Amino acid sequence: MSAALTVDVRDEIALVTLDVPGATVNTFTRPVRDEVVALLDRLDRDQGIRAAVLLSGKADGWIAGADVEELVELPGAAEAERLSRMGQELMDRVEKMRTPIVAAIHGACLGGGLELALACAYRIATESPKTVLALPEVQLGLIPGAGGTHRLPRLVGLRAALDMILTGKNVRARKALQTGLVDEMVHPAILRDIAVRRARELVEAGGRDRLRQPRPGARARGGSTQRLLLDHNALGRAVVFRQAREQTLARTHGHYPAPLAAIDAIRTGYLQGRTRGLEAEARLFGIAAASDVAKQLIFLFFATNALKKDPGVEPPGPPPLPVSKIGILGTGFMGAGIAAIAAQRGVSVRFKDTDHTRVLKGLAAVRDVLQDRLASRQITRAEFDDQMLLVSGTVDYTGFASVQLVIEAVFEDLEVKRSVLAAVEPLLPPDAIVASNTSTIPIARIATASSRPERVLGMHFFSPVHKMPLLEVIVTPETDPQVVTTVVAFGKRLGKTVIIVRDSPGFYANRVLAPYINEAAKMLDEGAAVDAIDRALVAFGFPVGPITLVDEVGIDVAGKSGEIIADAYGARMAPAASLQRVVAAGRYGRKGRKGFYLYDQAGKKQGVDPTIYGLLSAGAQRSLMSDAEIQRRAVLAMINEAARCLEEGVLRSPQDGDVGAVFGIAFPPFRGGPFRYIDTLGAEAVVQQLEELNDRFPPRFEPANLLLDMSRKRERFYPDSP
Ligand code: NAI
Repeated sequence: MSAALTVDVRDEIALVTLDVPGATVNTFTRPVRDEVVALLDRLDRDQGIRAAVLLSGKADGWIAGADVEELVELPGAAEAERLSRMGQELMDRVEKMRTPIVAAIHGACLGGGLELALACAYRIATESPKTVLALPEVQLGLIPGAGGTHRLPRLVGLRAALDMILTGKNVRARKALQTGLVDEMVHPAILRDIAVRRARELVEAGGRDRLRQPRPGARARGGSTQRLLLDHNALGRAVVFRQAREQTLARTHGHYPAPLAAIDAIRTGYLQGRTRGLEAEARLFGIAAASDVAKQLIFLFFATNALKKDPGVEPPGPPPLPVSKIGILGTGFMGAGIAAIAAQRGVSVRFKDTDHTRVLKGLAAVRDVLQDRLASRQITRAEFDDQMLLVSGTVDYTGFASVQLVIEAVFEDLEVKRSVLAAVEPLLPPDAIVASNTSTIPIARIATASSRPERVLGMHFFSPVHKMPLLEVIVTPETDPQVVTTVVAFGKRLGKTVIIVRDSPGFYANRVLAPYINEAAKMLDEGAAVDAIDRALVAFGFPVGPITLVDEVGIDVAGKSGEIIADAYGARMAPAASLQRVVAAGRYGRKGRKGFYLYDQAGKKQGVDPTIYGLLSAGAQRSLMSDAEIQRRAVLAMINEAARCLEEGVLRSPQDGDVGAVFGIAFPPFRGGPFRYIDTLGAEAVVQQLEELNDRFPPRFEPANLLLDMSRKRERFYPDSP
């Protein structure tokens, strides 16, 4: 295999370029680590080299961190701890080198990549939006394991370091410069030259001594008074650690141990010194790497990455057609959301609704999404203007003759959808694709209005479109494979994780949500309290409970979608009486500031509305139902339905089902998804519990055949799930 590192020595400065062959990003695989060690040996030995500059050969990325594949192959905590010690020793060596190393960072500098940069004598980042720095380990259930919990707080201060380590969030170059994470920010065109110049200055300044002059925009060394007070004062630090712990527990409900472990490692370093701190880091890294939570999060990371390479049909599949201009029918909530993310990706959007007022409202909604991005500096003013210019509105179909794709987002009504399809189709180019964003209506029913049903499919986005990562692409038996590959490629371009779902009522995500919400509503009818149900499912790991979710989505919308699904799947999905009665009483949820909960003028949720109980079967009399019972009923209803989706071929694989549930309906990521969760419980145990519940509530919990079969054969969905 060819080498990942190339070294070019010019005037005593070694220009080192890392470019892992055959990989899209640079990661620290074992061979790369060996090469780095050999490089350090050479830098130590070669008297003709006095300093080095570390660059990446990849166009958009610096170093993305450890090799996660290698990590999952480690048999246990002890081996992971050993790997961490090796990483720490390598970084220590970098830090103490005779020849100072300048990290010349362009592109993503993540995890072990940032830990390496932290050990370098000087860091320069390019001002490109591609340049982001982060320690994202917690997102995989891990903690930084190569000295990051020690070096980062000492460089940027305790608060800023905790913020980065506990959230894993990306920091852009400008912010990195302000916090002192990097020493300098430059235009990408001059990165190499400036890095070489700084390397030379470091040599002149006496080897490892830091450059004294702070660069423009960089924070003066030592930091703010507030930081000094906090970081150099045991009491101040104790307050910061306590707050960090409390905030983490409030956010994670104790389901994610890694952030707490990271706090422990950092704290140990402050209380007992560097050596003990690093020991704690390695030990806690080992424990985290061997944990079930890390296994589930790493599984999701791999499954999502695999989907990025998935063309949507049996590979390789026909090449996707180009999409540069789209039409959107319906400028409402979803239409506007889709238009905004398309414009962000440079796609020209023709926006159509029935009257000018609605079109203008849609354009204003697009502007709001883009304005938020401008305000948070994710785009520049010029980019904002360019993106707004890409979206134009119409009340007839002018401009539709040149679109390659139409996304329909009109009312959830079969006849309305069929009529707009019939109206728009004759005006489109012959190979244009029409995608419906319906949330429940089978695509085949809509496509009966089409003269070319092979070019019709579903693109089911989730709300809010700019935040929710999932896109379900709904395929009918008639859909042309090139239509699938085109829409899958386009969905990815919009930044979505795309799963393929076979056409059927409710598709996948809404279908598994329906019995879960229904079960919650049935429990309400039996007398469980609104907040008790929500609390139990938040404790299970959902971000909000099912009743809050219904209020958010709109009780009318949830009720309507529930009806379509109930019509299709019969008695086991029969809607709960409570939802129907609540809608009939004119309560639609948060949008009408009247739902199961009370809302203030700004739409902020207050307590449960006590008058709601008058509308429920059990009346005001609330009975006690344990958290375990609430969780068991709602979650088993959901995962049993997920198994049916797989059994019926609505899903291609358990992976799609797990990713779809986590990214579409916020199934708790630390449980890996419904199929991984079934594996955790064991199919036998799941079937046994379903049968018990089905005795009490027939036929809602009749076990899926697939589960019965797996239970008999003692099979699992995954060989490696914890
Ligand atoms: P909305 O009511 O906000 O917007 C619908 C828009 O379609 C309105 O502006 C309406 O004037 C327009 N419209 C109606 N008939 C039309 C016609 N003949 N030609 C052009 N425009 C027409 O509804 P929303 O929430 O945006 O939903 C749209 C679709 O997206 C529905 O099928 C819904 O099921 C689906 N969906 C909704 C989600 C949500 O959370 N709201 C999530 C995923 C899908």
